Amino acid sequence: MLERLFRTKPVEEILREAHTGTELKKTLGPVHLIMLGIGAIIGAGIFVLTGTAAAEHAGPSIILSFVLAGTACALAGLCYSEFASMIPVSGSAYTYAYATMGEFFAWIIGWDLILEYSFAASTVSIGWSGYFVEVFRSQGVNLPASLTGSPWSEPAGLFNLPAAFICLFLTGVLIIGIKESANFNATIVVIKIGVVLLFLAAATGYVKATNWHPFMPFGFDGMVTGAGVIFFAYIGFDAVSTTAQEARNPQRDMPIGMLGSLAICTVLYLAVAAVMTGVVYYKELGVPAPIALAIRTLNMPWLSTFISLGAIAGITSVILVMLLGQPRIFYTMAKDGLLPPFAAKVHPRFRTPHITTAITGTACALLAGLTPINQLGHLVSIGTLLAFALVSGGVLVLRYTRPDLPRPFKVPGFPVVPILGVLACLYLMSSLPAVTWYRLGIWMVIGFVIYFCYGYRNSHLNRRAVEAAERVGRGEKV
Ligand code: ALA
Repeated sequence: MLERLFRTKPVEEILREAHTGTELKKTLGPVHLIMLGIGAIIGAGIFVLTGTAAAEHAGPSIILSFVLAGTACALAGLCYSEFASMIPVSGSAYTYAYATMGEFFAWIIGWDLILEYSFAASTVSIGWSGYFVEVFRSQGVNLPASLTGSPWSEPAGLFNLPAAFICLFLTGVLIIGIKESANFNATIVVIKIGVVLLFLAAATGYVKATNWHPFMPFGFDGMVTGAGVIFFAYIGFDAVSTTAQEARNPQRDMPIGMLGSLAICTVLYLAVAAVMTGVVYYKELGVPAPIALAIRTLNMPWLSTFISLGAIAGITSVILVMLLGQPRIFYTMAKDGLLPPFAAKVHPRFRTPHITTAITGTACALLAGLTPINQLGHLVSIGTLLAFALVSGGVLVLRYTRPDLPRPFKVPGFPVVPILGVLACLYLMSSLPAVTWYRLGIWMVIGFVIYFCYGYRNSHLNRRAVEAAERVGRGEKV
């Protein structure tokens, strides 16, 4: 049994399958990939969660929280890049774990990524709905709370209709095709970077240094918890790796896409965090649309509406990339026999994994309609941190087990960087509340049940190994 659980999939086999078996179109270049990265990164994290994290956990030291979380991401991003350039197939960390730590770890990480992408898509849709409501509010129209909030949010509603709507709309866009989706994404990314720069340009002159005192009102621990919470804001660069099979030159462009988008976003985040806490006293930032609030205090109402519209556009592209990545993990896992074959079906005309895209989109829409934002954000962070820790560990393992493999991009400072990557992710995980750990545990237990009931029995890798062993037993040549 243990042998089956920890059997690794040979990298050569993964690459062969990618080259011969793929039906996905190869259309994405480096600019598309950086755009996809930024599209996934800048969203509800900076537009919504930064305010609450500053108000409740870190105060103005949220700026340092961004540095800490960004450092952890950069370490993990370097490790991701080594993997993504070496094993340029869709499935991201799941595939890397299959090649290094065996099927059971691969399942854990794949299941974890499903949590990350689908729950993040829902979380961000709820943030989208918040800014949507804000735009109407700024025009004097108050949308009914019953149709814009979940039964468990404050104030309680019935169903968050805008959040569910945006999930379903983008699901439709994704079914039509990845090239079209990538272009749609690139347009939105330009708008949201523009909006962030506009905010910085308009608000920087109004920064009052007194708002940065006290700088660390909740102490060092508060700053670290802030980092765990706003880690969410960085999630997404790894989604680039899920499109490796659709990239024209993945070896060169995967690291460019991931590290490039991460670097651009880090610079923007630090600036936004500094300006936001410099313009508004941190205690007042715990609102659904903190950037709009900061602009409102400058007495420029038109700009506030404009920036809210930009935030909506920005948040939209995050949902898009999350909904794009998730079915591609399903697709890869189904190709390996760990999920049923319908999940690997590709639409004959659109050539996208339409069935899983539709299932994912519908599930995310329901979750977004019924759940409050704060319940989901922490869970997404902890799940992603676990995946990043495993990826960093995987780079270490593979350097020792397969030193012979060509690595077009190598993590610099080996082995210090991957070791620090693992430690930084575990450190941020430890700063998140106990209830988040319990929820992660429940999610994992569900995953184990599915694995042992289905994946363990149907894994193509193990089936082939068992058949080979039987042939050897019968004295046949293999
Ligand atoms: N990083 C993404 C966001 O901030 C998930 O919305």
